[in-house]
Amino acid sequence: MEIDFEKIGKYSKSGPRYTSYPTAIEFKENEKVKTIYLKELEENSGELSLYFHLPFCRSACYFCGCNVVYTSRPEKRTRYIDYLKIEMGLLSKHLKKNREVVQIHFGGGTPTFFSAIELEEIILEIKKYFTNISKNAEISCEIDPRYLDEDQMIVLTKHGFNRVSFGVQDFDHKVQEAVHRIQSFETVETSVNLARKYGITSINIDLIYGLPHQTAETFQKTVELSLKLNPDRFAVFNYAHVPWLMKTMRKIDEGALPKPSEKAKILKRTIDLITDNGYKMIGMDHFAKESDKLFLVIDKGELHRNFQGYTTKGGTQLLGIGLTSIGNGKSYYIQNYKDMENYEKSLEKGELPIFRGVALSIDDQMRRDIIMELMSNFKFDIVRFNNRYCVDFHKLFKFELDNLRPFEIDELLTISYSKIEINFTGSLIIRNIAMVFDSYMHNHIDSNKVFSKTV
Ligand SMILES: C[S@@+](CC[C@H](N)C(=O)[O-])C[C@H]1O[C@@H](n2cnc3c(N)ncnc32)[C@H](O)[C@@H]1O
Ligand code: SF4
Repeated sequence: MEIDFEKIGKYSKSGPRYTSYPTAIEFKENEKVKTIYLKELEENSGELSLYFHLPFCRSACYFCGCNVVYTSRPEKRTRYIDYLKIEMGLLSKHLKKNREVVQIHFGGGTPTFFSAIELEEIILEIKKYFTNISKNAEISCEIDPRYLDEDQMIVLTKHGFNRVSFGVQDFDHKVQEAVHRIQSFETVETSVNLARKYGITSINIDLIYGLPHQTAETFQKTVELSLKLNPDRFAVFNYAHVPWLMKTMRKIDEGALPKPSEKAKILKRTIDLITDNGYKMIGMDHFAKESDKLFLVIDKGELHRNFQGYTTKGGTQLLGIGLTSIGNGKSYYIQNYKDMENYEKSLEKGELPIFRGVALSIDDQMRRDIIMELMSNFKFDIVRFNNRYCVDFHKLFKFELDNLRPFEIDELLTISYSKIEINFTGSLIIRNIAMVFDSYMHNHIDSNKVFSKTV
């Protein structure tokens, strides 16, 4: 696959960025959003997605940007389960009976840091409150291959888990030492085999490029070893280095981080290698086998992006359960407390542990839909949008369309009366393109910065 790095560099300082959420909605502490949230919880009878944050890890991987509680004390997990139970009990009081659950995801931290017995306790409690789990539900778990045993896999598959995602990141020993995450190929292989043995139908592998000491050659070896494991999907994240936000990242030697030109080489080689081996690229950081059902919906423009990466199930109300979890509905985003003390205190008082949120105006909702559709499908159906909102897109978003013209002139996308279509090179900087529709980002965009830096 030919990639025009010059064009990408013109628009994107550091290439694709890692994030679970595609929009840059600004959270505000806001009483109004609580009312809107509770109203939507009570009135909605549509499909549900559930995200459970299981935040514990034994030790810090220095690159980690996730919301993690480091501990080796088992009583912390038991205590956390008690609070999850209270939260589910409180939430269920606001929900209509029998709502269909189409997605459940255990994320972290490291969900498999919980023992088989503990995982089963959580799952049984979920089943107590959410009794209508769809036969076709996507039920998934993030797994650190260093923490997985047969009993855990038995429990997960017995209760319908059908997808797992393994954190591999990099197999090179020098890189592993620099980021404080040592795991051998054999450890990962054993875990992947265990998942297959118990009938998991979709296995994803996470890799990160941009870590210290990585070169195109060393990362090629990591990709080749990962291909041997024959996963169904790959997520290849660009390392997001934000030491001012994440203390552990300060332990990373910045002098050892690969230079932008090396990162470009790594990315190009990775894309070539993975796509030559029967995978297709879905957007900037995900790859799936050509037989994957994701490709059936891409043409229809029905791919969605959520906490799990890409999915065919969209438009559901997402309940985020556990510390720091984010939920969203038609007209709000909401986030739980990020610190354990406040999270627990709220629940003890019999209150949902809401930390902050944002209520979405119609304008926000429209922009969210546009950004989601662009980032998931690399095209945007203007006619469908006009019909949905009874508006004239070309008039309403004239300012944004004008701001898309430079991308059009650079042949990264085309704009017609009925659709916007992004081409392959454009898809690699989709974030920069979609940003044009993000009213929150407009305040932060410094056009010199966006337009002059290289990869
Ligand atoms: C919660 S972790 C995965 C589960 C498990 N804790 C593990 O590490 O294997 C989710 C994924 O986020 C990615 N990730 C974490 N921090 C990142 C960062 N700073 N930049 C890019 N990707 C990151 C990693 O690929 C990681 O596998
Ligand atoms: S990458 Fe995974 S195992 Fe490592 S600290 Fe982050 S959440 Fe924990």
